[in-house]
Amino acid sequence: MKVLYVCTELFPFLKTGGLADVSAGLAPALQALGCEVRLLLPAFPAISDQVISTRPIAPLPEGQMPWGQAPDLPPASLTLITLPGFELPVYLVQAPALYDRPGNPYVGSDGQDWADNAVRFAALGWAGAALGRGLDPDWLPDVIHCHDWHAGLTPAYVRAFAEANQDTPATVFTIHNLAYQGLFPAAEFARLGLPKAWLDVNGIEFFGRVSFMKAALRYADRITTVSPTYAREIMAPAQGHGLDGLLRERANALSGVLNGVDDQVWNPANDALLPARFDADKLQGKTLAKSALQAKFSLEPRPAALVFGVVSRLTPQKGLHLLPQVLAELVQRGGQLALLGQGDLALEQAFVDAAVRHPGQVGVRIGYDEPTAHAVIAGADVILVPSEFEPCGLTQLYALRYGTLPLVRRIGGLADTVVDCTLENLDEGSATGFVFDDMSPAGLLGAVRRAFALFRRPDDWSAVQQRGMRLRFDWHTAALHYLAMYQSLRPSAK
Ligand code: ADP
Ligand code: GLC
Repeated sequence: MKVLYVCTELFPFLKTGGLADVSAGLAPALQALGCEVRLLLPAFPAISDQVISTRPIAPLPEGQMPWGQAPDLPPASLTLITLPGFELPVYLVQAPALYDRPGNPYVGSDGQDWADNAVRFAALGWAGAALGRGLDPDWLPDVIHCHDWHAGLTPAYVRAFAEANQDTPATVFTIHNLAYQGLFPAAEFARLGLPKAWLDVNGIEFFGRVSFMKAALRYADRITTVSPTYAREIMAPAQGHGLDGLLRERANALSGVLNGVDDQVWNPANDALLPARFDADKLQGKTLAKSALQAKFSLEPRPAALVFGVVSRLTPQKGLHLLPQVLAELVQRGGQLALLGQGDLALEQAFVDAAVRHPGQVGVRIGYDEPTAHAVIAGADVILVPSEFEPCGLTQLYALRYGTLPLVRRIGGLADTVVDCTLENLDEGSATGFVFDDMSPAGLLGAVRRAFALFRRPDDWSAVQQRGMRLRFDWHTAALHYLAMYQSLRPSAK
């Protein structure tokens, strides 16, 4: 089974969020099951700068297609490269005019989307479809698995070829976050090289604009998202971001497959970023990680303090605007907070102010830093993920592994992965963290109070901690689900 994996991020080379962790975990797990997996990404500098070998493949196709013109792109070609420490071959779309710029893959240094994002990601989509039509004479995928709106046009171009009676691979599209849709003015449509009739509500038009997400949801053979609960949530208006109707139409093609944890990166037993390694049977290293975290965040070195941690993008999705409103009580109860995050400027400032108001009890790092993320996840007692919505969420899975109890809202993947410390769940031995429903300071505070209550019962605390540390959310399980899906789409593929 040959699988082309189309995405924009790959840990550790380029990461803005969980998408990068998924590529680095899932693609090798599929390979381990016997799939032949290659990745396709834009040649962003963060990737190009690390290439160790490169082979030119071909320019992207131009000109007349069976349905009309190919997309109108600046010169673009494909190379096949290898990256250090990453075993799978990677195709890069080389288009310096589109990708060779500093900073974030999606936004400029002013925080605004790059003005030519429609063309930038159409080129990625077109390259995916071209590979599916034999652009590399040595390698033809059976299935193309695309991730998030950036890769959303691949299923559309593949469908255009299929409707012209040409052989095409099957397509699978994974929604990592329906909130980001790749919406562009309808005037961009003419450049995209899609069949003219598709600029229509029954095609990819979305309230007068063009939607790359809708293109994928309309034309992919299968749609997945990253947890079973989010798969249900997005078929209803509250979480459907206007696409719930289409998702309901495609309910038979939609499923939720839970993300996993990459054991090579997030495992306290071999994490070189910690002061000492630890596991469920030997927790001294966790105590060391806690005091190291307190020192790093200038928190009072109190072993008895209940330390809450946050590692997050600071966007409305993550619900962290609730946190400043409960901090006074959290501190008054003897708790501490170590927060690592970046994003919304007002929220950043609110946390910086909180650290000034509560010296020695609230520590804040604004920025993006992998070693500090490990320090927080390992050293905190509780990780806070009070999200408004959460397709899967990875930090709560990492926290479970590190004996850090997740405190989460009952939503999306958080609801699927954390079991609340109710008395009956404690009694039955199923509890792994704290779960609340009401998206309000009172809702969050209720769960924070329960964390303090459990912390005063060390035997119960450690039973919950042990249970979480022994759970396994692995990529092998997710990969088995995807492989079964590929096989159902292409039963004869070897
Ligand atoms: P999302 O993809 O919505 O941001 P996830 O929980 O799926 O949420 O994944 C977030 C990933 O990004 C995790 O690997 C987390 O450790 C990492 N991360 C988030 N914020 C930061 C930060 N400020 N510094 C370092 N890593 C971060
Ligand atoms: C998105 C979601 C997050 C998910 C990640 C990886 O960024 O916000 O919930 O874990 O993708 O699938």
